[in-house]
Amino acid sequence: MTGMNDSSQTGRRLAGPSGIQELMDDLGGALALHPEMRMLGGGQPAAIQCVQEIWRSRIAEMLADESTLDRALLNYDPPGGNPLFREAMAAFLRRECGWEVSLDNIAVLPGGQTAFFLLFNLLAGETEGGKKRVIFPLMPEYIGYANQGLSADMLSGREPLIEMRGAHEFKYRVDFDRLRVTSDTAALCVSCPANPSGNVLTDEEFDRLYEIALCHDIPLMLDNAYGHPFPGVIHTDFRPVWRPGMIFSISLSKLGLPGLRTSVVVADAPVVHALRNMNAIVSLANGNLGQAMLMPFLADDRLIRLGREVIRPFYQKRSEFTRQVLADSLGDSVPWAVHSLEGAFFLWLWLKDSPVPSGELYQRLKARKVLVVPGHYFAFGMDGEWRHPQECLRITCSQPEAVVREGIEILADEVRRMWR
Ligand SMILES: Cc1ncc(COP(=O)(O)O)c(C=O)c1O
Repeated sequence: MTGMNDSSQTGRRLAGPSGIQELMDDLGGALALHPEMRMLGGGQPAAIQCVQEIWRSRIAEMLADESTLDRALLNYDPPGGNPLFREAMAAFLRRECGWEVSLDNIAVLPGGQTAFFLLFNLLAGETEGGKKRVIFPLMPEYIGYANQGLSADMLSGREPLIEMRGAHEFKYRVDFDRLRVTSDTAALCVSCPANPSGNVLTDEEFDRLYEIALCHDIPLMLDNAYGHPFPGVIHTDFRPVWRPGMIFSISLSKLGLPGLRTSVVVADAPVVHALRNMNAIVSLANGNLGQAMLMPFLADDRLIRLGREVIRPFYQKRSEFTRQVLADSLGDSVPWAVHSLEGAFFLWLWLKDSPVPSGELYQRLKARKVLVVPGHYFAFGMDGEWRHPQECLRITCSQPEAVVREGIEILADEVRRMWR
């Protein structure tokens, strides 16, 4: 195509190719060509019937009330979100979570993915004080962050400590000796529960990360896509409290609404202000439907109860089922372990000292109509070689049990062959 040879550095960086884009194309292509594929790879939420009914009836209610729908469809909101929604969200967070926030602390954005793109590029990259980087203290981390920096070398990952908890279970812990925050650190960022591992920070880790961030006058960013306050898929007691200096991201997606592309950032007013200005340039305004749909649910504790009583138990049961099928299929035949089931939708499988790298195992499984995500994609911004993620796979538990069982049994068979 004409002109593309001269594209800018930013253009080349975003227009790819990138690892994540290749993987997503490969996953999407495999699924389109082979509908019988067992899809244990994606990040979309499960179809939980009673949750979908709630959203369907809310849409019916909006259709019946012409003024609500017309207002949402006809108007451009201010780029930081509808002020009534921001006020209602702040009241919800004060009441249900005890966070001391007002409308000035709330920015609405078109999804957590966009929120992090704007945040990373707001805080890190070339600054007057030199190059600054966002540190991820607890790798492996969300694959979607990997290519978001508009300049090279903006994102920097740190290996975790690996704590074994019996023969087939492990947990990641922040290695504070490796963290090393310096004057070129722009922020600390953790997804919690983590994608891919499901790891949930302990209260001590969270407090210590905050103290370190505070000490260096940088933000601690927490990506709550699967966690607090909704959809609340956390199986430990960890319930983070937002404090000044922190940046929290909350998304509607894992409530079963990824199609609405709506998320909320909770931050100090200057960060909210900056995000609003950036969003005006990039998006003009947010989609209004997500905000209009959620509005009545912010008036009471329905979203909290939905997470606690329906969504969290659903994923807990499904992930325990998946682990049991894996344990029954693999037994003690090979050295395997999964990360402790602490939250989110995934089983993070570690095949210790695996003779086959995760990319190759991914291909072998795809040939047998099972799609997973190979672990090395979740290790970006590392200094030097890190073998561990090459021995890992992310398995999504949100498909129906019969699909999960079939997929895991094939996976176990393929894994056993690797050691023969
Ligand atoms: C940890 C994490 N953060 C952010 C996102 C982006 O979510 P969305 O843009 O749908 O809000 C995802 C999506 O899977 C995720 O897993």
